[in-house]
Amino acid sequence: MYREAINKLSVLSPKASKQAVETILSLEEHWVCPNQDYFFTVGAFSAREFFDKNGVVAPDRRDVYDFYHNIRTSINPVLSENFKDVYESMRAGLETALGEKVLYADEYIGLPGFQILGPSPQQKLMPKEIVEHLETLDGWSNFHVDTPYLPHTSFWQRFQTADFNNALTFTLSLQLPQSGSGLDVWKNPGDTEAGNKFNGTPSAEAQKVITDYEFVPYQTGHLTYFTGHVIHRVAGRHRLLCDDRRITVQGHGVKCDGTWYLYN
Ligand SMILES: [Fe+2]
Repeated sequence: MYREAINKLSVLSPKASKQAVETILSLEEHWVCPNQDYFFTVGAFSAREFFDKNGVVAPDRRDVYDFYHNIRTSINPVLSENFKDVYESMRAGLETALGEKVLYADEYIGLPGFQILGPSPQQKLMPKEIVEHLETLDGWSNFHVDTPYLPHTSFWQRFQTADFNNALTFTLSLQLPQSGSGLDVWKNPGDTEAGNKFNGTPSAEAQKVITDYEFVPYQTGHLTYFTGHVIHRVAGRHRLLCDDRRITVQGHGVKCDGTWYLYN
């Protein structure tokens, strides 16, 4: 029943997905791996830069804002130049599915970015012990609610209305491990306050309560999306090969005055 909140949209052909994978592999100089754990990103990620264990950082943290926006100004042009067709396919697909105009907020916020689990082109393989460890995990992230809109108040303020309680989260799968990958989903606790409260719950405590989550498989070339504060995590429990890669494009959106603005 929780998985009914999740939608799927075909946006890229197998050939176009493969082409996008080849392009991201050729841009290795832009891959970032903050924890040296084979989880790479390419792009500016609000969810990573603006949040710590206490939630969103204070709006006067100039250092944090400058860090994010420096990444954004350097990487947005690289992404839009190399993945023009991918971004347009996602935008057009979402516009049809959501029934409203969809635009990127990339003059002010980061474009949807790449998340890669697996070896970089130079590394070629993940060590066996890393693979075996990942295989034992139920989830490759903690259960959480997405609120990456929180640090971008100055952008939303230019509109009359911005609907944060029905904000959009989407994932485009470009390449998946041979045994698959997907999303674990649970309840929607409600508004931003309820979402923040859930995110403030220690993960071990949340884990105990979330016994009946549901799994939604990803499919290459398909965009998986939902609106609202649905509790979710990257599913684990999949067999992995040392040369498997899970390459996705990750993005968010907020409907402002009847138009969706996509960002990350
Ligand atoms: Fe998320």
